[in-house]
Amino acid sequence: MTAKIITIERHILEQQRHFPEATGEFTYLLYDIALAAKIISREVSKAGLLEILGLTGEENVQGEQVMKLDVFANETMIRMNDHTGRLCAMASEENPDIIPIPERFPCGKYVLIFDPLDGSSNIDMNVSVGTIFSVHRKVSDGRRGALEDFLQPGYKQAAAGYIIYGSSTMMVYTSGQGVHGFTLDPSVGEFLLSHPNIQIPPRGKYYSTNEGNYHYWSEGVRRYVDYLKASDEASGRPYSGRYIGTLVADFHRNLLAGGIFMYPADTKDPQKPHGKLRLLYEAAPLAFIVEQAGGRASDGRQDIMNIQPESLHQRVPLFIGSRKDVDEAGQFIREFG
Ligand code: AHG
Ligand code: MN
Ligand code: MN
Repeated sequence: MTAKIITIERHILEQQRHFPEATGEFTYLLYDIALAAKIISREVSKAGLLEILGLTGEENVQGEQVMKLDVFANETMIRMNDHTGRLCAMASEENPDIIPIPERFPCGKYVLIFDPLDGSSNIDMNVSVGTIFSVHRKVSDGRRGALEDFLQPGYKQAAAGYIIYGSSTMMVYTSGQGVHGFTLDPSVGEFLLSHPNIQIPPRGKYYSTNEGNYHYWSEGVRRYVDYLKASDEASGRPYSGRYIGTLVADFHRNLLAGGIFMYPADTKDPQKPHGKLRLLYEAAPLAFIVEQAGGRASDGRQDIMNIQPESLHQRVPLFIGSRKDVDEAGQFIREFG
């Protein structure tokens, strides 16, 4: 029996049927993000070309200004969303402050926060990279967006998702109705539903973390990772270590196969006492997704989704993946610090 061919546009429309009061704005916003993803995917797939990589503000053979991929991805996310009337402001890892909608364009009732190119250190090695996005409803007064629209806890997100530019390009999103994965068919330029209703196994077989930081972790984290590596067939240990160094790629594997990704706080850089990853455009959107898939995301002590953000680029320790694994990590941290 041939599987039904469902494009992401049709899927989003069908999902929005559950919200009779939906005005379509939200639906169009997700379309716009999918289109931006297709454009970024096209450039990533050309990443082998020297002029795309490593150069910023140089002229290529055609005399065009070329950008590094993360600048290109950032510009694309902004340009695809700044004039549509769905948003009242945007925020990006690459921009220190919120990005206002230009005066000449209409404002909408959502804000979009994104990491335009996740895993940028991997771009030049042709390793999978990604884009992560989070959508909140406007809560501030007035027409234009304000910082308070972005500083909302993760459980208030209207939608979240990521695109992984790997052996194939996939877009995975949730709007609170489960987690759904779409694979890009470049020949027709459509994201086709390939992974409906993704559910993460309650316990995994992979752990993903940068063990180079081992001696900078707290005792509880070190004991937990040692525990995962100790042999105990009954509990399926030792786990296998898998670390790509692109959060989206490490997260995606664990979402499908089960496992835990950790970027704990470490004492390596006194400037970054809470680890490397950012709450608003890395931890919170992936936490929404993993919870919708039956998993868990915490900072080691509290759920990521309950953290009240204080600043746009604040960092947070991240333990995310299979529910039982994340809970177990939390037990070690509670007991040993
Ligand atoms: P970004 O490229 O958006 O800055 O994100 C990179 C992050 C994340 O993708 C990955 O999990 C982590 O950096 C890897 O950090 P280490 O190299 O310190 O392990
Ligand atoms: Mn990132
Ligand atoms: Mn990034």
